[in-house]
Amino acid sequence: MLVLGIESSCDETAAAIVRDGRDVLSSVVASQYEIHAEYGGVVPELASRAHAERITGTIQQALEQAGVTLDEVDAVAVGHRPGLIGALLVGVASAKALSWSLRVPLVGVDHIRAHLWAGMLDSEADPAEIYPALGLVVSGGHSSIFRLHGPNDHTLLGSTIDDAIGEAYDKAASILGLGHPGGPALDRLASDPAADDRVVDLPISRLGKDSLDFSFSGLKTALLYAVRGVPGKGGVFPRSENELSEARRRDLAASFQRAACRAVILKLGRANEYGPFRTLLVGGGVSSNSRLRRDLQTWADTNAIRLVLPEMRYCVDNAAMIAGLAFDRLQRGEADGLDLRASPSATP
Ligand code: KG4
Ligand code: ZN
Repeated sequence: MLVLGIESSCDETAAAIVRDGRDVLSSVVASQYEIHAEYGGVVPELASRAHAERITGTIQQALEQAGVTLDEVDAVAVGHRPGLIGALLVGVASAKALSWSLRVPLVGVDHIRAHLWAGMLDSEADPAEIYPALGLVVSGGHSSIFRLHGPNDHTLLGSTIDDAIGEAYDKAASILGLGHPGGPALDRLASDPAADDRVVDLPISRLGKDSLDFSFSGLKTALLYAVRGVPGKGGVFPRSENELSEARRRDLAASFQRAACRAVILKLGRANEYGPFRTLLVGGGVSSNSRLRRDLQTWADTNAIRLVLPEMRYCVDNAAMIAGLAFDRLQRGEADGLDLRASPSATP
């Protein structure tokens, strides 16, 4: 079965053709980084407009790269929640128009849950040996832990109470003067073999004794104070990030990365109590982080859980994960009507 996937929840316009949920024939991602860079973050109105301009061309490209014509598409899947509402509406309207005109089923897919399918794309992993699974989504908009009994059977165990981890990475990068999007830039700097990740002891948020929620705002503020000085102490606040030596900037990046990754591992340890789990499924832009990938592998090995990490190209937002997850519902005879709604919030 060939599924056309469409994704437009934030600042990536994406389309993909996926066979039987796993086999990616094409995955086209048109990023809007250059549009939002000068604002230091995503501007919703500009994002919607760019999606509207690019969506038809992106779908066309996905079909061409897959060598597939529209007549061969068996179903249309679209990320319909959560995200920026104006951005989501562009993808949802396009998917409805295609589903209606081609007379094929329409499937609405939760973007966060689709991130947890990304590790199954182009992979040898056998879906029959995955569940029950522990799911970790670490992205620009979300930091969440789930217990999964199937590809579309999720129980939310914990999520962030303030900044998402990717957002914290982006803000930390901005504090260090690294530009937008900062996550990959901070990762590169922190990966310098000369970097000392203990140069400052940045806080690892634990929250309540049993809490599976994340908090990254304290870490971000602690980094800000390490760079600029503590207000009222020493009378030098604010210093500029330009005063940082290259070595100090690198060491602070590594210290931030250590604290952020340790916070994730700490919560995974607590979540494991809800097991037993056969696998740890991970997804979202921050799952391409070099240190997190290493730390997750170590944690999984120690706990005898199989780690399923997406290939780098499927970590960030893409439409292959949308088409892939939709296949599970289609196989069970499920689909949505043309009254499918876009929603800014995640599936409850
Ligand atoms: O999953 P994604 O594309 O978008 C959302 O659904 O939010 O994630 C984007 C986020 C950004 O915050 C970006 O800085 C972060 O993922 N990111 C990284 C790395 N690559 C992307 N963060 C840390 N290290 C990386 N290598
Ligand atoms: Zn995402």
